[in-house]
Amino acid sequence: MSNNLNSHNPIGIFDSGIGGLTVAHAVNLVLPHEKLIYFGDTAHLPYGDKSPDSIKYYSIRIAQLLLQKKCKMIVIACNTASAVAYETVKDFVGKQALVVNVIDPVVESVVGRNKLKRVGVIATRGTIKSDIYARKIKQLNKNLEIESLATPLLVGMIEEGFFNNKISRTIIADYLSKPKLKKIDTLILACTHFPLIKPEIEEYYKGKINVVDSAGVVAQHIRDLLTKKKLLNNQKNTSAQFFVSDYTKSFEKSTKFFFPKKIKLEEIGIWK
Ligand code: DGL
Repeated sequence: MSNNLNSHNPIGIFDSGIGGLTVAHAVNLVLPHEKLIYFGDTAHLPYGDKSPDSIKYYSIRIAQLLLQKKCKMIVIACNTASAVAYETVKDFVGKQALVVNVIDPVVESVVGRNKLKRVGVIATRGTIKSDIYARKIKQLNKNLEIESLATPLLVGMIEEGFFNNKISRTIIADYLSKPKLKKIDTLILACTHFPLIKPEIEEYYKGKINVVDSAGVVAQHIRDLLTKKKLLNNQKNTSAQFFVSDYTKSFEKSTKFFFPKKIKLEEIGIWK
């Protein structure tokens, strides 16, 4: 079977919506010579409350689209899809492209740090229900304690542009003050929307705990993997395309929160 493993081919990045643009932005900073193709499944947003079977079905169809677009790598830039559909997407893609999720690089980076005892995880209901962070962290260090909390309100709040204001600070404080997060020394922001509220979370903890988000860690992992596989693009004619499964003006407007350059969203009606 032919494959897309050619250094000049693009990196495909997908999410349930536009939160995965935080990962696309980090990849663009670390690897400015790579062509990016982004796909946001806005027709099915949010994934956080969908069943694993639905998310697997959506993810496979999106992977198929990104393979048709010759992507050498498919990045699942959504924690919920990474939690429930990574193995399925990997099996489907086989040797045609590399597949990266946003969970393993973060788990490896957190477990590699010294002196941690209790790690908190905040994410969508789907990610928390999968228990994936606790399972993966325990596989690498069974002595670490993991406290997971679903924080479903945060995604909608951020999408609506509510961050860095008194409403967001109140909601964030309400979640973070829950008893189970009381004694943590590290907090994983296990949702690709959350880098936008990282400063407020750090402010809440007054610098006393490590707050870890996936965007930068995943971008470094992608660079390392492409280097190892000799698939880094050495040409400078880069480009980025941004697709969604359901276009609305409000999505296009909200992209500015997640990606600092002006983005033009194009609709590909893969479900229509
Ligand atoms: N981007 C998703 C994630 O990282 C959150 C949004 C959603 O629920 O679809 O889990």
